[in-house]
Amino acid sequence: MHVVWFTAMSMDGRIATAGDSLDFLDLMGSPEASDDTEQVAPGGDDSSDFEAMVKSVDAIIVGASTLRWLLRGGHGWPHGDLPTWLITHDEGLVAAAGATDKPLRAVSGSLETAFEEIEAAGHQRVWLAGGGSVAGQALAIDRVDEVIVTVAPTAVGAGPALFDAPDLPLRRFRLAECRPLPGDAALLRWVRERS
Ligand SMILES: NC(=O)c1ccc[n+]([C@@H]2O[C@H](COP(=O)([O-])OP(=O)(O)OC[C@H]3O[C@@H](n4cnc5c(N)ncnc54)[C@H](OP(=O)(O)O)[C@@H]3O)[C@@H](O)[C@H]2O)c1
Repeated sequence: MHVVWFTAMSMDGRIATAGDSLDFLDLMGSPEASDDTEQVAPGGDDSSDFEAMVKSVDAIIVGASTLRWLLRGGHGWPHGDLPTWLITHDEGLVAAAGATDKPLRAVSGSLETAFEEIEAAGHQRVWLAGGGSVAGQALAIDRVDEVIVTVAPTAVGAGPALFDAPDLPLRRFRLAECRPLPGDAALLRWVRERS
């Protein structure tokens, strides 16, 4: 099973501001960046990269704060056509997300449990849709195989980091792609190197 953390961040490695705003992604100048649904799917002129990634996965893992951010914007879970594992302690969050075509399953505790369930269900390629807390925990247990991130041309100072954890073991990644995007953004892709 291959896990891809696909997102967008500021130059200082934040996926949102301290106040949970993603407005800084608008600086990348894409029309998609001003659409809330697209922003959890990162903004910027990487929409074709994002669409290709979504088509390539067969399951999703997402954190409670990322889903709540979408719900605050008046959305449900926009990827309800894919089986999704929601990492949360909040027993009411699945119901708050509304109806989905495929199961939206809440899991809490070690992320290893969620990954084992996803693997046991036969899924091959998983989008880690955020946020930084879930990504940090996934990296800690070495479950992140690929990172694709659009970097917006600005810094925000504080907010959840790309891997938001107090301490992480060193995990080496190989740079597989580094590409300028319109609007002074850049797309970086790293693949986990396990030797
Ligand atoms: N730039 C982008 O494209 C992008 C992409 C994704 C997200 N974001 C943004 O990032 C922010 C959210 O990121 P985040 O790092 O703060 O949060 P997150 O990873 O989305 O969710 C963290 C929350 O999930 C629950 N959780 C985490 N680990 C858990 C565990 N092991 N067991 C049970 N529950 C667990 C906890 O909430 P409960 O205890 O309340 O359940 C925790 O507070 C939002 O502003 C979102 O919009 C941006």
